Amino acid sequence: MSSSERRGIVAIDGPAASGKSSTAEWVARELGFTHVDSGSLYRAVTAAALRTGVPAAEWTPALVLGAADDITLVPDGHSLVPAFEGAPMTDEIRGAIVNAAVPRVARMSAVRAWVNDRIREVARARNVVVDGRDMGTAVFPEADVKVYLVADPWERAKRRLVQHLRRLPTEAEIAAETDRLVHRDAADATQSVQARDALLIDTTHLLQEEQVARIVALARAALGGRG
Ligand code: C5P
Repeated sequence: MSSSERRGIVAIDGPAASGKSSTAEWVARELGFTHVDSGSLYRAVTAAALRTGVPAAEWTPALVLGAADDITLVPDGHSLVPAFEGAPMTDEIRGAIVNAAVPRVARMSAVRAWVNDRIREVARARNVVVDGRDMGTAVFPEADVKVYLVADPWERAKRRLVQHLRRLPTEAEIAAETDRLVHRDAADATQSVQARDALLIDTTHLLQEEQVARIVALARAALGGRG
């Protein structure tokens, strides 16, 4: 495929609760691209493994990949989301049990290869906005635009709680959530690397619409006629 025929790829990476997915979804909507959240695939594989009833401590890559066989990607607005036997896995993949088990599954190289194949398959057929930890490094080193989103852990914790609780969280709730996020950052550290050619955006003091506007402008400039 010549470079003028190549599909557009916008890669957005960053730590847990940095606002990657909602930003990526919004950017995809603005550009008319398809959004895929790689974290949702790691979560879906984990939820499928939990459904087997085998205790997480005994999971092998073969068991996890066997469970992943029933997962497909289905359209939901501008995104493709994981479905199990055709049914979207919405709430199931966001629970505390999946949160706790997912970093272990994400460290299995066979699982990483499975997730990466699914996402590359989508990007061969469509223009995509992908988000995760290693989209701009391991998965799409050739991406047209690479962004790495960071934010202060306290701010990330607060945003996550406001989204989940739909009210202002207390200081104690934010402190507990900050602790959980810092632990997950440590568990994910190996695969969470900023690409050398990624633009670092600190969103601690930014409105989401401001970060979206910056990424959309970057993408339009980089993609030219392909956008
Ligand atoms: O982004 P999110 O918190 O939904 O990701 C869930 C988990 O999936 C992360 O904690 C991490 O362990 C794993 N992940 C990964 N590589 C990615 C995306 C997510 O290892 N590209």
